[in-house]
Amino acid sequence: MNKAYRKAVIAGNWKMNKTPREASALISEMRPLVQNADCDVVLCVPFIDIPAAVEAAKDSNIKIGAENVHFKASGAYTGEVSAQMLVESGVEYVVVGHSERRTYFGETDQTVNLRTLAALEAGLKPIVCVGETLEQRELGYTETLLKYQTKMALTNVKPEQLKNVIIAYEPVWAIGTGVTATADQADEGNGFVRAAVAEAFGEEAAKALTVQYGGSMNAGNAAELLAKENVDGGLIGGASLKAADFATIVEAASK
Ligand code: PGA
Repeated sequence: MNKAYRKAVIAGNWKMNKTPREASALISEMRPLVQNADCDVVLCVPFIDIPAAVEAAKDSNIKIGAENVHFKASGAYTGEVSAQMLVESGVEYVVVGHSERRTYFGETDQTVNLRTLAALEAGLKPIVCVGETLEQRELGYTETLLKYQTKMALTNVKPEQLKNVIIAYEPVWAIGTGVTATADQADEGNGFVRAAVAEAFGEEAAKALTVQYGGSMNAGNAAELLAKENVDGGLIGGASLKAADFATIVEAASK
């Protein structure tokens, strides 16, 4: 982290876990543990949990995010949720382009871009995910791929909107596997993302951009990862489902 230039943000990504009742209980448990955080604290929760989560996080420093957003404002898109619906529900952040959506739900670089634009237009802060597979890494494509995904995701984003964007570098091979990237790999990947943003938007904009690392970040390894210059926070899956573990990561980002 380099707090002189940019904000540290720790975001939980609950994926398809927790019912509304369980969401309330977990947030109530987390609230006192993260209240003194010196970083932004976000919980991205399933759509159906949003009202309960917003209520449980009321008057606390926990912000609520969604895990996806559709790119159209309204219309015949059965099962989808628009950016405005999220805004009206009290949501401030939204995960876009998570590798699970790319893998299981046909998400492409183009739809990731459209979702990012729709989120920004509505005033949401997108947490845009990029990351290479193990095969791509072994073939030596990590830098090329991360730069490509980053630039594609940010196509037509206006320079003044970039301050509302967070990018999460999440190596696909590290997500939910217990295999974390080394701190150097995380720093390097985040650095590639920042370099792509510098190429597209200039050095100053890149310097101010929050780039998270995600992929098996946990209470045990967070401090080492977050000590790296380019790691400005984390997108946390499994460890965000346990109040104490999540609070330890928030504490590590508050140093
Ligand atoms: P994980 O998930 O922390 O469980 O690896 C991270 C993510 O998918 O955002």
